[in-house]
Amino acid sequence: MLKRYDAVIIGGGGAGLRCAIEIARDPNLRVALVSKVYPTRSHTGAAQGGMNAALGNVVPDDSPEAHAYDTIKGSDFLADQPAVFFMTENAPDIVYELDRWGVPFSRLEDGRIAQRPFGGASFPRTVYAADKTGHVLLHTLYEQALARDNIDFYNEFFLLDLIHDGERIKGVSVYDIKNGEVVTLQTKAVVMATGGFARIYWFRSTNAIGNTGDGQAVALRNGVPLKDVEFIQFHPTGLAKTGILLSEACRGEGGYLVNREGERFMKRYAPEKMELAPRDLVSRAIEYEIMEGRGIGDGARAYIYLDLRHLGEEKINERLPQVRQLAIDFEGVDPVKDPVPIRPTAHYCMGGIHVTDYRTSETPMKGLYAVGECACVSVHGANRLGGNSLIELLVFGKYCGTAVREFIKEIDFAEISEGEAKAGQEFIESLLKREGNESLADVRSQMGEVTWAKMGIFRDEKSLKSAYEELSELLSRWEKIPVVDKSRVFNTNLIELLELRNMLELARAVALGALERRESRGGHSREDYPERDDENFLKHSLIYYEGGELKIDYIPVMVTRYKPAERKY
Ligand code: FUM
Repeated sequence: MLKRYDAVIIGGGGAGLRCAIEIARDPNLRVALVSKVYPTRSHTGAAQGGMNAALGNVVPDDSPEAHAYDTIKGSDFLADQPAVFFMTENAPDIVYELDRWGVPFSRLEDGRIAQRPFGGASFPRTVYAADKTGHVLLHTLYEQALARDNIDFYNEFFLLDLIHDGERIKGVSVYDIKNGEVVTLQTKAVVMATGGFARIYWFRSTNAIGNTGDGQAVALRNGVPLKDVEFIQFHPTGLAKTGILLSEACRGEGGYLVNREGERFMKRYAPEKMELAPRDLVSRAIEYEIMEGRGIGDGARAYIYLDLRHLGEEKINERLPQVRQLAIDFEGVDPVKDPVPIRPTAHYCMGGIHVTDYRTSETPMKGLYAVGECACVSVHGANRLGGNSLIELLVFGKYCGTAVREFIKEIDFAEISEGEAKAGQEFIESLLKREGNESLADVRSQMGEVTWAKMGIFRDEKSLKSAYEELSELLSRWEKIPVVDKSRVFNTNLIELLELRNMLELARAVALGALERRESRGGHSREDYPERDDENFLKHSLIYYEGGELKIDYIPVMVTRYKPAERKY
């Protein structure tokens, strides 16, 4: 089946919805929004703690400039500074727009939007709705998108491939999970908004099971580079047993991190900011405490305590109700009465599809755009500050939408040949017929073991080389995994196979980027190169395929106002 739209958005989370709303402002344009899950189940809904905007509601001295400096320092000076200023200067208006659209923000006594402290920020800057900020944001954006009758939703469709001529986008091929049919969408512009891929850390991640980097992997296979993918964020406070997120809001509201001796150990690592140092630093501090025998329990199962008891039941119920319930349900511990066992967990990908212009979110392929966690603009550099992901996807989602609206007015649709239109269905049929003796579950488990053990919080040359080799081997084994379930209706076996290929390709790109970056910066911590090395590595990595092999190249960082300096907290 072939359909035609002016623009196609891939991803129904915050970035995709915000972008779709902006394009659809022109009633003459038709937009398709393709989502692997029902949009309100997108991973944006899992963002708990809030989003940053210098409203100055709690401390009037805050400003977009202070927000920019905190972000750049937090990024270990790898963020592109003009892009950061663009984000922080637009952030307040974006928040007030959401307020008007109906997001139920938590309030101060006088009715203004409340703001809480978050890691690495010099003022209380994070606006929030208890600890369900992403959830309410996602639902509000979905309502706004539904209200525009020039947006068609393709819910529960899986991205198969881009259709292009090497220069410009012609369309996209998507698979209807509900009935097994492949649909070709002819279009002038495709916006990738598929979220992150921290599920490559299969066994310990805050990410939804579906965060498999489908947009990034499809872009990579089609010749579009990925930028800075070696930078993975490990969130300090994952529940010990499962890795499920306990929001940074816990520490923003005053929670302590405590070792087995009952000591607030952050005084050794960040004496000023303590628990509210940036995530890279806090995660490493927790791991050092465990390595030095001050964790509770042993080895892989050891943990540290997050202590919220002194906040009191009333405050916990008002500000952190979801946190309380998650701790009770998944750790068997009530934070009102007991400290909660936590340990770092894979959370966020700072890198993503290479965006060449932060004002438009365009990529090197004409007509292809990328926004949200799926993209690398870059505003997070080597380490994102908590609360900067929701604001990023909203600001860049909006301005990408504006740029796409203008772009599609200037060009015509490109022809799609019969062969191009049929390629997606042929690929699916070939997978359904595939024979082989490999097991999807085994290959995926091995990926999870390799990523955590060899390219996790700490890395070195030996572990990264071995990770790259093992992931390459797993990718060859992927070719021999049969689809056991041959049905057409909700064939999750087939979808998991497609997702696994995407994760393996991305994990391998992370391993290569991390291997070649012989320094430590932000979330990338090399035990064999413990110092930041601005002379050789103040640059963005670009990873791409050439002749079937992954290659790496570098481009400069946009350093304008702030010279790189040592990070102290
Ligand atoms: O901890 C959190 O609530 C997560 C926020 C974020 O990743 O920005």
